[in-house]
Amino acid sequence: MTVELSFKGPLKGETLVPSDKSISHRAAIFSSIAKGKSIIRNYLMARDPLSTLNALRLLDVDISVEGSTLVISGKGLQGLREPDDVIDCENSGTTMRLLSGLLAGQPFFSVLTGDSSLRQRPMGRVILPLRMMGAHLVARKDDSLPPVAIKGGGLKGIEYISPHASAQVKSAVLLAGLYAEGKTSVIEPHKSRDHTERMLSSMGVEIKVEGLKVTLTPPEELAPVDITVPGDFSSAAFFIVAALIIPGSEVLVRNVGVNPTRTGLLDVLMRMGAEVEILNQREVSGEPVADILSKYTPDLRATEVKEEEIPKAIDEFPVLTVAATQAEGITIIRGASELRVKESDRIAAMVSELRKMGAEIEEYPDGVSIKGPVELKGAQLSSYGDHRIAMALSVAALLSDVPSTIDDSSSVEISFPGFYEILSRLGQ
Ligand code: S3P
Repeated sequence: MTVELSFKGPLKGETLVPSDKSISHRAAIFSSIAKGKSIIRNYLMARDPLSTLNALRLLDVDISVEGSTLVISGKGLQGLREPDDVIDCENSGTTMRLLSGLLAGQPFFSVLTGDSSLRQRPMGRVILPLRMMGAHLVARKDDSLPPVAIKGGGLKGIEYISPHASAQVKSAVLLAGLYAEGKTSVIEPHKSRDHTERMLSSMGVEIKVEGLKVTLTPPEELAPVDITVPGDFSSAAFFIVAALIIPGSEVLVRNVGVNPTRTGLLDVLMRMGAEVEILNQREVSGEPVADILSKYTPDLRATEVKEEEIPKAIDEFPVLTVAATQAEGITIIRGASELRVKESDRIAAMVSELRKMGAEIEEYPDGVSIKGPVELKGAQLSSYGDHRIAMALSVAALLSDVPSTIDDSSSVEISFPGFYEILSRLGQ
């Protein structure tokens, strides 16, 4: 599907956004090995978290779905069954990496594969620590790319110093740690999102967090949960930035998760002078939640984003580059080479597409610099089949009277079904 977009006026009003993708995946996976029935309200009914549900069903987990509420009959830590087919994680890196950790703990054989994008994404980063724990994993291209074959069981706890600030790696090792003999620790170079630590703690698992080190003690069992998933900050980000840069806009996004390990974009935007307010802060199911009000800010200033800030804003890079095109001065984002191994090479994708629109953007191996403000103009754009590139470019397209086309825009279904409907409602 190709979408055509151009400036039609300010964005005004309020909206909800779809549920948090990271929390949805974790709630489904952890509930599957809990003892008893879990209820997950507001599960994200988008392609990635649905891939996780399909995978869990292949492991014999009973999941009933009513609207966006799931009831999962947990099988206990030892109750999963060997799948009789390859597990297709489709486009979802979180599904593949977290399940690698879970399956490393199972005394049976399983194979994980994915679509053409996922089959190009690095898996060595989870295979290495899981092997150190004693699991047998092999993969394509010298054990680096999917499909990944796993024969698990017989694990020993390790202290793993991860070279990546990656919540997927951390979560895979901690999931395997549930099945290991002795404690398992992960030490990250910078703090990544901590939904796994929060949720496992709420299920009764002993988790100790000391700075960048997380230590898990293997439990007897996991208690079931009754949780409500908040709106996804990474989805809200598109409207927060759109409202800041489209003249006359004012948008209130309600019920958004504002876990501080996720809201690095807000810190960056505040430095840029953005008129953004966090309202009505509260806690829902162990996660901080708020409403976020974002207003057109004509005098945004450039800023520098450093390596340690990247993990907290990792999925917001595409839309942040769009904001930077409208800020006075040179915005520099470095230390972000992880972006090259996401659903697409997000550095290359944003450089090439924003240049087509007239942006002044330089590419580095680990980031970009962007000189603004520049009046972007409509162009024929490619989303590279990547949901976040499609949505970031859609926001950019709204800055110009000249229409832009964006190919493969149906990729938004990966994380944000209804994105274009909300955009057009706010634009009326
Ligand atoms: C995620 C972690 C991040 C993020 C991804 C979701 C998660 O990936 O980019 O969209 O749910 O754990 P990395 O752990 O690879 O940084």
